[in-house]
Amino acid sequence: MFLICLLRTVLAVSAISVTDIQGAAFQSPLKNEVVHDLRGIVSAKGPRGFWISGPPANDSRVSNGLSVFTKSSSILRQVQVGDEISLSGRVVEYRSYFKPNDLFLTQLSAPSSVKVLSSDNAISPVVLGVDRSPPTQQLSALDVTGDLDGYLSVPNNQSELEVSNSTLLPELYGLDFWESLEGQLVMVKKPAALNYPTRFKELWVHGDWPVTGKNKRGGLTVTFGPDGYPDANPEAILIGKPLDGTRNPPVAIGTELSDIVGVVTYQYSYYQILPLTAPSVVSTPEYTMPVTSLVSRDDPCELTMADYNVENMGPRSHHMSNIAEHIVESLGLPDLLFLQEIQDDSGASNDGTVSANLTLTRLANAISDASGGVHYQFVNVDPKNNEDGGQPGGNIRVAYLYRPDRVRLLPGSPAGEALDASKPFLDSTNNVALSFNPGRIDPANDVWVEARKPLAVAWQTATGDRFYTADVHFSSKRGSTSTHGNARTPVNGRVDVRGGQANVTASFIKDILDLDPTASIVVAGDFNEYTQTRSVYTGLSQVMHDIDEISGIQPVERYTYIYDQNTQQIDHIFVSDAIKDRGTEIEHVHVNNWAPSVKDRASDHDPSVFRVRVCDADARPVTSGYAVQVPYALDVLSRLFRHLLW
Ligand SMILES: *[C@@H]1O[C@H](CO)[C@@H](O)[C@H](O)[C@H]1NC(C)=O
Ligand SMILES: *[C@@H]1O[C@H](CO)[C@@H](O)[C@H](O)[C@H]1NC(C)=O
Ligand SMILES: *[C@@H]1O[C@H](CO)[C@@H](O)[C@H](O)[C@H]1NC(C)=O
Ligand SMILES: *[C@@H]1O[C@H](CO)[C@@H](O)[C@H](O)[C@H]1NC(C)=O
Ligand SMILES: *[C@@H]1O[C@H](CO)[C@@H](O)[C@H](O)[C@H]1NC(C)=O
Repeated sequence: MFLICLLRTVLAVSAISVTDIQGAAFQSPLKNEVVHDLRGIVSAKGPRGFWISGPPANDSRVSNGLSVFTKSSSILRQVQVGDEISLSGRVVEYRSYFKPNDLFLTQLSAPSSVKVLSSDNAISPVVLGVDRSPPTQQLSALDVTGDLDGYLSVPNNQSELEVSNSTLLPELYGLDFWESLEGQLVMVKKPAALNYPTRFKELWVHGDWPVTGKNKRGGLTVTFGPDGYPDANPEAILIGKPLDGTRNPPVAIGTELSDIVGVVTYQYSYYQILPLTAPSVVSTPEYTMPVTSLVSRDDPCELTMADYNVENMGPRSHHMSNIAEHIVESLGLPDLLFLQEIQDDSGASNDGTVSANLTLTRLANAISDASGGVHYQFVNVDPKNNEDGGQPGGNIRVAYLYRPDRVRLLPGSPAGEALDASKPFLDSTNNVALSFNPGRIDPANDVWVEARKPLAVAWQTATGDRFYTADVHFSSKRGSTSTHGNARTPVNGRVDVRGGQANVTASFIKDILDLDPTASIVVAGDFNEYTQTRSVYTGLSQVMHDIDEISGIQPVERYTYIYDQNTQQIDHIFVSDAIKDRGTEIEHVHVNNWAPSVKDRASDHDPSVFRVRVCDADARPVTSGYAVQVPYALDVLSRLFRHLLW
């Protein structure tokens, strides 16, 4: 009682200001207090309240803007943008009951005693990129206290932002930066879109301020920052629903927009800027379907391969013809295709069908039609009904398409079924074979519960040389939380499962390498994880190499997917030492994520094409000259001879 009396006395002496309410931390020091005679100029109005701007503090951690929540139509009619007003109300920290992992929004609720003191006052926004610029590496101090994986560190959710309620460090951390502007009117100059609109027509952008990780198309890629931590792209911000009821325009990565003025808020799990009115499109990036330069050449030891998640493709999928066109026109009819998300012959019908022969036959026929007769064969292993996750009834699985004129399955082993575990062994010629060909990798292992089992195949080139592949599709990130959420590090759904799946895959590869350290092996597919989440790849990187890394692809150009503010690579290709030593090439072919709109995409993933050399005697000469060339020529002759035998 005494304290309350004291506070009232203090209030009477010097009135509370907006900056007193905002304070320098995530939560208000005046949380749950009723304040009187609060003054500010109305900076913006929306359907459920308005924003006021008070005198600034000499402290960049402290916002001088505040959201006033009211549905009262008389108050909303009474106040106009530019009015200086005084009012009373209660300071609250709001978050939706349905979104317990959201951050709190500081608000003044139940406003009363609203008085307009003067009108037509000028109010100028904080110009981002001029007055203040967001940091470009980390989102929160709580993300970088553990191991070097920063916001991708595992285990997740080791601390909570609103529990720690630290004093803001806006120069260093993105969430602190946007919090320090909460409620404030800001201007974003030259906004550039980083993704397609969200379902709610919100737009991820960066403005005219320093950014890192920017790729040639205009997206911000998940990369490692100069500090060695993954860069969380805190300089990106979501543009929410315009306050005047206009609609944000459709955008794609790289679309440039007119300047935006709006208020910073937190809603629906992200910091957002609510524009006073919708921006307009200033320029749109050109779209011509990209085409790989990595085509097949005559050499039977040099193969082109592609990896493509074809997104829930059944025999009647409308996008099958687009995918076939991509394979023909953009991927250059590769010798071997690693596919993911091939559905069974009844598509998504949950009717017990598990065979995908019809789906794969139709895809091969569509490619043949689009290419004037190029013939592919397919190989896959049917899962047990509804045991591999994904859309119920769809029975998605990984599968290969291959050109029988270029490669064939190594004969001699039976094809595996759903529960058969393929094992490498040395056959009578003292070369590695697989006990099932094709065959699944350790399908009964717990890591594959409700997940696609990888499919391993032993192949032969036309020269008779052997190489081995595994096509993988790891568990999805379902259950992940917002990068702008309370849990730090953000929850990366089932990351531990993917770590186990990577280890089981790595141990199969190691079994091959233990029998033949010079084996040519490729693992490709949808790993559902960035390489920057290093803990997932620890085991795999002990036995294989990331082809992007060894082919010298620029880190910002390594992407196959866009999610929220980040362009990112979740589809990968790993190769063994022997393949690395012969030199590798890779291109990510952005047929989908450069498309003008989501409905113009055939899949949410981009395919990748790579060219590798898989024959034993084919190591690139380390020195040039006669001494190396003679045995090489002899080898080519002997291989030609074997080719004739096949
Ligand atoms: C948050 O931090 C501020 C500043 O240190 C403090 O005044 C306030 O009481 C804290 N709120 C909570 C809920 O911890
Ligand atoms: C603002 O704060 C800085 C240090 O925090 C101080 O040096 C400066 O005098 C202050 N300016 C005003 C106008 O109070
Ligand atoms: C994070 O951990 C806290 C404390 O253990 C828990 O209450 C909260 O629900 C967790 N958040 C998420 C998103 O899992
Ligand atoms: C699918 O094709 C394979 C090989 O061509 C064959 O053995 C199998 O019986 C076929 N399955 C169905 C359901 O037609
Ligand atoms: C995977 O193996 C590595 C060692 O190679 C180990 O540190 C890690 O804990 C394993 N991960 C899982 C999820 O089993």
